[in-house]
Amino acid sequence: MVDLKLSKEKKFFIETFGCQMNQHDSEKVAEALINLGYSPTPTSSEADLLLLNTCNIREKANQKVFSRLGALHQTYGAKPDAKIGLLGCMAQMEADNIFKKAPRVDFVVGSSSYSFLPDLIARVEKGERKVIDVSQDTDRLFEINTQTRKNPYKAFVTIMEGCNRFCSFCVVPYTRGPERSRPTQHILSEIQSLVNEGFQEVTLLGQTVNSWTDSQGQVNCFTDLLKRLAEVRGIRRIRFTSPHPNDFCPDIVDVIENFPVVCNHIHLPVQSGSTRVLCRMKRDYTRELYLQKVEFLRKSKREIALSTDIIVGFPGETQDDFEETLSLVELVDYDSIFSFKYSPRPGTEAFSFAEAVSEEEKSRRLQVLQQFQRKIQLQRNSKMVGKRYEVLVDGSSQRGTKTLAGRTTQNKIINFPGSQELLGKLVEVQVTNFLPNSLQGELVEC
Ligand code: SAH
Ligand code: SF4
Ligand code: F3S
Repeated sequence: MVDLKLSKEKKFFIETFGCQMNQHDSEKVAEALINLGYSPTPTSSEADLLLLNTCNIREKANQKVFSRLGALHQTYGAKPDAKIGLLGCMAQMEADNIFKKAPRVDFVVGSSSYSFLPDLIARVEKGERKVIDVSQDTDRLFEINTQTRKNPYKAFVTIMEGCNRFCSFCVVPYTRGPERSRPTQHILSEIQSLVNEGFQEVTLLGQTVNSWTDSQGQVNCFTDLLKRLAEVRGIRRIRFTSPHPNDFCPDIVDVIENFPVVCNHIHLPVQSGSTRVLCRMKRDYTRELYLQKVEFLRKSKREIALSTDIIVGFPGETQDDFEETLSLVELVDYDSIFSFKYSPRPGTEAFSFAEAVSEEEKSRRLQVLQQFQRKIQLQRNSKMVGKRYEVLVDGSSQRGTKTLAGRTTQNKIINFPGSQELLGKLVEVQVTNFLPNSLQGELVEC
């Protein structure tokens, strides 16, 4: 009894780095801690338990975490007796090296070990130091019915974890372990409860979300799962990220056309427009095959927005290869792209590849690509002016509380003046102006 009361007074604070899956893991970790009697605090200096949920995808992500750990007091105002825990993908990769590099850290939990958190925290509470679990028990998924969600209108739902693809540049198969899919029934019931709680939109998460399979054989494949989810009563929007181009079949177009709640936006990472580079990246598709997939998406009756990820300066990428990337970007006419300079990651195949592209040249290519895409986006967004779109109002714009921000089903951000009462609602907005990354509009009064 006494212990419970004592631990109820304990507070935790989590800083999250990395992708949406990590953000959602932090929501689930928060729930696990609440179940242990901790309560969240928005003020890091009040925390008894300070957690960093880390990313390892590029070197910069690692450096950021180590610089935070080196300046715990300045960054977080951390209490001298706060317990410090490192979670996530960097924790998985660096494992007990972390204790050498950052001696103030009390415990390390890899991204496949969250289901062991209660035991690990109990050991830390008892004063044990250097507690670590980075096992990759392949059957385990982090199943917890979390009430702790950052956005009250849109929810993430993990449907599969891990990756079996081993692209030569990528740490994810090592940090997240092999593919594990959640059973259909778990996904369905989580989504039904989210809808019952008033969530309007769910985003299905997976490192290669469309390689989801039903371990119990009830549903054939990812597109069939989408159909089942689209039939959940009350659901308004379903998104998913990120599909792998290879697992994409034309039936996704039928699903998007026949189920309006499935958003007409697909994030389809290409990484490079050069078949030679794609082959060295071990992406298992050619430029032509990727373009074929884009073609069937473009043929849809619903206008499907496309976004992508691109890496510049992969070892051996020549100017000609880079120009092929630019030409692919022009051909596809993406709605948006995320672009990165290649970062060599220890443990991956490409780490030992020769013909490194210089930092200077990587920066130049990145800038050229981003400028190129900026023009495409301006052009695309300009065509939206004067048209009306349904948006889910999910926050205030960065410019203040009187300006709301919402997203269209194509995932375009529209800022418009309006009252906070509209938060969480689906409303119609007419676009009045455009920028490269967002639009401005006015509410269409009914
Ligand atoms: N599963 C997704 C990618 C997840 S990682 C897919 O298959 O496409 C998110 C993005 O980070 C990748 O798409 C890639 O563009 C980028 N990335 C991954 N490893 C990287 C590295 N070593 N250097 C630079 N960018 C990298
Ligand atoms: Fe990484 Fe490739 Fe897996 Fe995507 S598909 S997570 S890029 S290994
Ligand atoms: Fe980073 Fe891990 Fe996500 S490496 S991008 S947090 S899967």
